[in-house]
Amino acid sequence: METNTSPKLCSTIVVGITGAVAAAWMPERVFAMRQVFASNLHVVLTEAATKFVSSFALSLVSGNPALMDRDMWTSLDIPHISLAKSADIVLIMPASAATLSRCASARNSDLLSTLISAVPSSTPVVFVPSMNENMWRNPLVSKNVKRLRSAGYHIIEPVDAIELSNGEESFGGMVDLERLFHELKAILAD
Ligand SMILES: Cc1cc2nc3c(=O)[nH]c(=O)nc-3n(C[C@H](O)[C@H](O)[C@H](O)COP(=O)(O)O)c2cc1C
Repeated sequence: METNTSPKLCSTIVVGITGAVAAAWMPERVFAMRQVFASNLHVVLTEAATKFVSSFALSLVSGNPALMDRDMWTSLDIPHISLAKSADIVLIMPASAATLSRCASARNSDLLSTLISAVPSSTPVVFVPSMNENMWRNPLVSKNVKRLRSAGYHIIEPVDAIELSNGEESFGGMVDLERLFHELKAILAD
């Protein structure tokens, strides 16, 4: 893994965090991403994500206020447009089945899905789904993933990870930071 003295991958990254249980691991990852990926890191949280992780912790580690749905209606710089415009890359990590569905159908019912719709087609958008294996293999979820891929979005598929409910290894976790870094580097170089 490159250190924080290595050149960063890009200038601005937007990280969308959704209500998958893996959201609980994101503060440490966001801090590491800020060191390695981009000087400006902005976090956008869904309402369900706030059940798993604190917006204040994410604001501290990202260096910017973590934005939530209410900011759509209070911030005068119209965050879904301004962030979509300034991002070099948008990463949705972890991406829940519900957010994949919302984005696959452009059902812009929250800040994150609205922002993703407003991202210029030249800016890469990368989903890192994380969910129970049965959920991932559900044909409707698979259809949404296929639809997102065919619209030009990138998907980094789940991997084996320790399941919170029983402490055993099972499928559905997020890739580690090192692999994520290599995938994002390749996507940005494309
Ligand atoms: C304890 C718990 C764990 C959950 N874990 C996941 C998960 O890992 N992946 C997922 O897709 N949904 C998971 N869900 C369901 C989502 O939280 C739910 O579908 C929610 O509506 C997602 O909303 P969002 O996509 O707007 O964040 C979980 C729900 C609970 C209560």
